[in-house]
Amino acid sequence: MCGIIAYTGERVALPLLITGLSKLEYRGYDSAGVYTPEDGLLRSTDGVQSLAALAPNAPSGTFGIAHTRWATHGAPAVRNAHPHAAQNNILHLVHNGIIENYQDLKDELSALGHTFASDTDSEVLAHYIATAYEAGLTTTEALASTLSKVRGTYGIALVFADDPGTLYAAALGSPIVIGIGEHEAWVASDATALIHETKRVVYLEDGEYAIVTPETYTIKTLGHIDKTRTPQTVTQNAEELSKHGYAHYMLKEMHEIPTVIADTTRGRLSEMRSTVKLGGLEEVRRELERMERLMVVGCGSAYYAGLYGKYLIGSLVGLPVDLELGSEARYRSIPASRSSVLLAVTQSGETADTLASVKAFKEHGGLTLGLVNVVGSTIARTVDAGVYTHAGPEIGVASTKAFVTQLVGFGLIALKLAELRGVTSTELLSFKDALLSLPTLATEVLARSERVEAVAQHYAKYAHMLYIGRSLSAPMAYEGALKLKEVSYIHAEGYPAGEMKHGPLAMIDDAFPTMAIAPRDSVYEKMISNIQEIKARKGPIIMVATDGDYRAEEMADHVIWIPKAHEALMPVLATMALQQFAYAVALAKGINPDRPRNLAKSVTVE
Ligand code: AGP
Repeated sequence: MCGIIAYTGERVALPLLITGLSKLEYRGYDSAGVYTPEDGLLRSTDGVQSLAALAPNAPSGTFGIAHTRWATHGAPAVRNAHPHAAQNNILHLVHNGIIENYQDLKDELSALGHTFASDTDSEVLAHYIATAYEAGLTTTEALASTLSKVRGTYGIALVFADDPGTLYAAALGSPIVIGIGEHEAWVASDATALIHETKRVVYLEDGEYAIVTPETYTIKTLGHIDKTRTPQTVTQNAEELSKHGYAHYMLKEMHEIPTVIADTTRGRLSEMRSTVKLGGLEEVRRELERMERLMVVGCGSAYYAGLYGKYLIGSLVGLPVDLELGSEARYRSIPASRSSVLLAVTQSGETADTLASVKAFKEHGGLTLGLVNVVGSTIARTVDAGVYTHAGPEIGVASTKAFVTQLVGFGLIALKLAELRGVTSTELLSFKDALLSLPTLATEVLARSERVEAVAQHYAKYAHMLYIGRSLSAPMAYEGALKLKEVSYIHAEGYPAGEMKHGPLAMIDDAFPTMAIAPRDSVYEKMISNIQEIKARKGPIIMVATDGDYRAEEMADHVIWIPKAHEALMPVLATMALQQFAYAVALAKGINPDRPRNLAKSVTVE
């Protein structure tokens, strides 16, 4: 999720652009850049404030564009930082989003002799628009004809060398807002970047482009049809805006889950193709074909995602998977051989215990892979190959959208391993199709959050809670308990339900509620037996149940309903509901879920 700000007016642009970028830093960034014709193209991986020092002279330009980057294509590096220049500096462009067919567009341009300075999809877009302009189209014709060929998402701002003072912008699936001042104007990826200057804004709708000068703005469709749009006044403050109006980052990020699931499967899975495209694993496909043992390592939620991955790969691929906590694996001499592979799961890519395990495994000559969210992070750069989750920056300390994309990532990896190892089954095909429909089901779960919040009100008073599940829901019991611990400070324990008789049942009484994850799957009847055991001891029960399960209401004190789905995906929907439950309990206890006491977002120490 990158940040964009552009300015045109009477004031010197550079300092205004840098101030605007600094308001966007919450969106996460690994590099930043600014372009004005007078000051040139200034880019850095040392933070937004380092840009001013790069200006060769006292800044003088009165219009330009700027960008903070959250890498999706191409590692964080100056050469990949935006703005990107097109050939012959015909134009400069900044982009937020993912151009899914950028490789096709790049191949077309390469065939015409284009060379590229970066690995990004955004630079390809700049070249493509400039090529259409060189072919004799006007600026807006070149812009619209190019964007009509694009698949994916974009929010862009660009300036043409032949049209100084004019900002061009366009949006599809990635917001663009125009700020209107007195003899000056802005374009940005969100209003937090400009509301300190003006609260009069106009939003582009998907499929529109805009031409913005200090005095006027024009909005058109890609078919060049004029769209009139009167400015609105922003009433929220910057903090509220950076959360897109949500009360907390955790809530905002839970609501991003359907989008980030689609972002993680985009370009990798399709109805038409039976194969999975995971470019980051291509170079190690031979090793994956021959692998006899996969070891997964992670910490916290990432470890529980690994447990889900272990079960999933075991059942779909028939491959044994060992799972280790990073904080344990690093001290054990992990047997590594040519036929064993380590897969590190990590959102931040900076977790010290996970990194140490990767390094130890590499030292023994083993192949290391990553399932990582932050592009270019230490673990992403340390492993031999890997798959990125596309969750975008996760600000809330409690992992929500990142955790779900780790589960989806394991789904993609399981399908890829099956393909490489010649495993075929109807189960694999139905799972692939189910993964593609997951965003819709996730949206449905979000639509039910008020009912989850109502249930949560009854449980904020308890000091303890047990979470139980079986098979692929067992990892969600651990993860659900972790969420509740993290954000509400209630002592919560996750347990495989089959273990109840081996001890935990002794804890149960009317002061010790149980969250039973019991979707209609192959172990449902076993879960019903656990629920009945608990009820017999007067333990309060919340049951996570599948729509239509008529027995749920009679067995549980409260029911959290989830849609019926593929057996391997109902646990994913359940975990979303448990995130909402933990969030609601935290609020009921007056705790800010974004900043739980004693915790940090990335544990870079042992
Ligand atoms: C999860 O809600 C926690 N924030 C924590 O357990 C986290 O998952 C763990 O620290 C691992 O972090 P990583 O994914 O960045 O490696």
